[in-house]
Amino acid sequence: MARVGIYGATGYTGIELLKLLARHPTVEVAFATARSAAGQRLSEVFPIVGDLRLTAAEEVDPASVDVVFTCLPHNTPDLIPIVQRALVTGAKVVDFSDTFRIADPAVYAARRGKPHPAPDLLELAVYGLPELHRERIRQARLVANTGCYPLTAILPLVPLVRAGFLADPTVIVDSKSGVSGAGRSLSLKTHFGETHETFSAYNVGRVHRHLAEMEQETGLHIIFAPHLLPVFRGILSTIYVNLKPEVDDTALAAVYADAYAAEPFVHVLPAGKLPELRHVQHTNYVVIGHQMVEPGRAIVVAVVDNLVKGAAGQAVQNMNLMLGFAETTGLL
Ligand SMILES: NC(=O)c1ccc[n+]([C@@H]2O[C@H](COP(=O)([O-])OP(=O)(O)OC[C@H]3O[C@@H](n4cnc5c(N)ncnc54)[C@H](OP(=O)(O)O)[C@@H]3O)[C@@H](O)[C@H]2O)c1
Repeated sequence: MARVGIYGATGYTGIELLKLLARHPTVEVAFATARSAAGQRLSEVFPIVGDLRLTAAEEVDPASVDVVFTCLPHNTPDLIPIVQRALVTGAKVVDFSDTFRIADPAVYAARRGKPHPAPDLLELAVYGLPELHRERIRQARLVANTGCYPLTAILPLVPLVRAGFLADPTVIVDSKSGVSGAGRSLSLKTHFGETHETFSAYNVGRVHRHLAEMEQETGLHIIFAPHLLPVFRGILSTIYVNLKPEVDDTALAAVYADAYAAEPFVHVLPAGKLPELRHVQHTNYVVIGHQMVEPGRAIVVAVVDNLVKGAAGQAVQNMNLMLGFAETTGLL
């Protein structure tokens, strides 16, 4: 049995991770940290994920585990010392935040308006998308789990880029996310009265923090329009692409089949069939559909459960690779 520890276990992604690990046959959760719920038992916070005593982050010893998951908010100053300490003790790290996803510190500084807080750690980090970086993840000590929105842009776009199908390197990614994407902390924006029976766009254009990793992995210039859907979980992205004139439905289908036929968690629909959120909710799948609109133009739609393949499921997939387990263990 491998032993793992979870920092931020009481958040939305932390609980999802605990649910997945509870059915993982070769992993045992050795510690789970919380801030406001420190001292309580897990069963008091979420009844079906075991009964560990939740501890404060300072109380746990990462030397006692093989892997730590850091499910902490992206801007918490506590993250870097936690990651440093884990790596020094020999534990591997899967980080959920966007701190280590942008490989180039200059791009990080330009996008965030400040230097990277730990460039030495950034050098160690591997972008945690197994479908693109499987072999590097197997060897990694620090994996930066991807953002949830980027997954629904990168996986549909990379095969088109590699095939040379795009006529225009500027692509519009129009995404809709359930409110759990914003985490469990209270905020006016995600509170029931503000989201129920309404629908809104936010951070549109070139400002959302996930844009940099989408562009890093695709090499494209992306116009990104995220929206907040009045549902709890799931992301649906609609991507508008201009294609070279010779590309038709058959060519698109062939390129996606070639890219993903062997991928356990990427499912491509036949041309003209489009995926829905309910196809992926509570699963580790990404489903991609595509449809020609007119010659030279297509719409690609991708769906993911932001808490599973978009966060905790992908983290388990990465952990399986880092520990030499079969990649799908505990996820099918
Ligand atoms: N939600 C998603 O769909 C999603 C998808 C992909 C990636 N992510 C990323 O995953 C990370 C976690 O997201 P989440 O949605 O699970 O967040 P969340 O629901 O807000 O949970 C955060 C967790 O961290 C704890 N925490 C907060 N500040 C802390 C600190 N300074 N020291 C120790 N513990 C602290 C919280 O405890 P308290 O409740 O006591 O504050 C809670 O357990 C974020 O970086 C996020 O960007 C989220």
